[in-house]
Amino acid sequence: MSMIKTHLICSALFVVFGCAFAFLGNGEKFRRKVTVELNPGLKPPSTLPPGVGLVHVRALGDNDTLHFFLYDHGAPTVLLVHSNSTESTMQVDWPEFINRSSSGSLKVEPERSVQYSRALVFTRLWEYSDVNNTADPQHTAESSFYPPYELQNFTWSGLNASVNQSDHTVMFCGGDETASFINGSLCLQFSAFESEGRPSAWPSLRHNANCSQLHVWLDGVTPRANYSRFSLELQTVGDSGFQGRVDVRSSIDDEYTPSIFKVSQWVSSPVNTSTVWGYTQWKPVAYRKPKPVFEDATPCMHSEPVSMTQLPQSGLVQAYFKDSHTYGLNISFGIAGDPFYNVTNYLSWTVLMGMGDPPVDSFSTLIIAIMAVGLGTPLVIVIVGGVYILIRKRTSQSTGYEPIN
Ligand SMILES: *[C@@H]1O[C@H](CO)[C@@H](O)[C@H](O)[C@H]1NC(C)=O
Ligand SMILES: *[C@@H]1O[C@H](CO)[C@@H](O)[C@H](O)[C@H]1NC(C)=O
Ligand SMILES: *[C@@H]1O[C@H](CO)[C@@H](O)[C@H](O)[C@H]1NC(C)=O
Ligand SMILES: *[C@@H]1O[C@H](CO)[C@@H](O)[C@H](O)[C@H]1NC(C)=O
Ligand SMILES: *[C@@H]1O[C@H](CO)[C@@H](O)[C@H](O)[C@H]1NC(C)=O
Ligand SMILES: *[C@@H]1O[C@H](CO)[C@@H](O)[C@H](O)[C@H]1NC(C)=O
Ligand SMILES: *[C@@H]1O[C@H](CO)[C@@H](O)[C@H](O)[C@H]1NC(C)=O
Ligand SMILES: *[C@@H]1O[C@H](CO)[C@@H](O)[C@H](O)[C@H]1NC(C)=O
Ligand SMILES: *[C@@H]1O[C@H](CO)[C@@H](O)[C@H](O)[C@H]1NC(C)=O
Ligand SMILES: *[C@@H]1O[C@H](CO)[C@@H](O)[C@H](O)[C@H]1NC(C)=O
Ligand SMILES: *[C@@H]1O[C@H](CO)[C@@H](O)[C@H](O)[C@H]1NC(C)=O
Ligand SMILES: *[C@@H]1O[C@H](CO)[C@@H](O)[C@H](O)[C@H]1NC(C)=O
Repeated sequence: MSMIKTHLICSALFVVFGCAFAFLGNGEKFRRKVTVELNPGLKPPSTLPPGVGLVHVRALGDNDTLHFFLYDHGAPTVLLVHSNSTESTMQVDWPEFINRSSSGSLKVEPERSVQYSRALVFTRLWEYSDVNNTADPQHTAESSFYPPYELQNFTWSGLNASVNQSDHTVMFCGGDETASFINGSLCLQFSAFESEGRPSAWPSLRHNANCSQLHVWLDGVTPRANYSRFSLELQTVGDSGFQGRVDVRSSIDDEYTPSIFKVSQWVSSPVNTSTVWGYTQWKPVAYRKPKPVFEDATPCMHSEPVSMTQLPQSGLVQAYFKDSHTYGLNISFGIAGDPFYNVTNYLSWTVLMGMGDPPVDSFSTLIIAIMAVGLGTPLVIVIVGGVYILIRKRTSQSTGYEPIN
């Protein structure tokens, strides 16, 4: 009876401690004040082409500012600029920016407050006919590849109308003139965050106030073959003196993204150091339906980043960077044996882009409590049992030496 009571009390204690630890672990208090503006300072006679917009997101911290820029003319681009001043502002020379996007036509001032800059550009959508069902574009015959969709040549729409001030999101969709995109589009949704959290929809990437999220989906595109698979080419542009590498971290916990035990992060660090200044982070999973469920998850793979000799065709990159370096890699969707694109005509993938160290998944309170009870209970039983045996031994020993009289 008393054994059971002890057991219960101990379990309760473990749950309490478990919860306390979980809250300590998740207790990131850092917040930013986020504001979103469209085409700041744009005045006639300068005008952007129809449907085109430049979004500026300002995420103000206690001692610093994160600026995000999003531009849908040419290859879709997100640019992140970290300034150590709370007073930093963006400057656009609109005539110059619209006409030629010459370097320096977009700036964050004062320029010496800028600590770090990095752009993520979606450059190409590749399509190949995977007749052998290997889902391995790197070892697929070149003849199986269709000419890639050059995203710089897509026309995008919706950005100007989709700026949502209250939840800090912007969405836009695009396509080209080909028959494949008559009923389909490639869409991107950008989100900025005031504080730490994670969305409920899978892959439920954990974010913080120092990053943004991009959700990308390919909806209703007519594949050029029945065995079509896709891959997406990404490029990052950073100040020269930085190098990129992709780290793949493993986790024993898949509670937020069922069946996915890995997270990939494409980090940028100064040459010959391991300090991470910025990252692009994703879980290697895509979903084949708009509402992600387990059955429609499909793994994805990335190629190794390679150094590119040219800047990507992105007005934002060309207008901002002076002395930069570009790396590129491909994310391919699906693995051998997975259904082809024609089955659902849908694919979605999510990626974070931010500064500093990438967010790390932690166990949820529930899992910690379960682990505490699961691991703690046997431990308590062993300890209590040990003590009990010890005491009994002592008592029996002491009785053993008691004088007979
Ligand atoms: C967005 O651009 C389209 C096309 O130029 C225009 O019709 C629409 O009114 C614009 N919406 C807003 C909110 O500016
Ligand atoms: C901001 O700067 C002040 C004074 O330099 C410092 O005390 C404070 O810890 C800093 N806050 C953050 C969040 O870095
Ligand atoms: C646009 O750029 C061209 C050269 O690329 C230049 O000749 C022209 O004057 C510029 N127009 C404006 C409005 O700045
Ligand atoms: C911001 O960084 C610059 C160098 O990048 C430095 O000179 C300046 O003192 C920093 N300002 C603050 C407020 O930390
Ligand atoms: C399919 O596999 C066969 C045999 O392995 C190979 O000869 C052929 O080139 C492959 N086809 C493609 C399109 O990769
Ligand atoms: C994309 O546009 C560029 C110039 O803007 C052009 O040179 C190229 O041929 C176009 N590519 C395709 C596939 O249309
Ligand atoms: C902005 O987002 C919020 C929350 O998702 C939503 O309730 C609201 O309708 C959105 N506003 C617009 C203009 O789309
Ligand atoms: C696009 O949709 C229309 C109506 O749903 C259909 O008639 C047409 O065949 C579709 N085109 C393609 C290329 O799928
Ligand atoms: C976000 O950046 C600020 C300023 O550099 C830093 O104080 C804070 O610890 C960072 N938060 C996270 C979760 O990385
Ligand atoms: C796809 O398969 C269907 C039936 O299996 C066939 O009728 C059609 O021609 C194929 N389409 C292509 C593009 O190969
Ligand atoms: C997709 O292509 C495969 C291979 O040809 C074919 O068997 C299947 O019927 C197609 N599915 C749909 C929904 O068109
Ligand atoms: C980085 O390390 C390599 C080899 O250790 C060396 O050759 C190179 O000069 C270093 N670069 C910098 C910028 O320190």
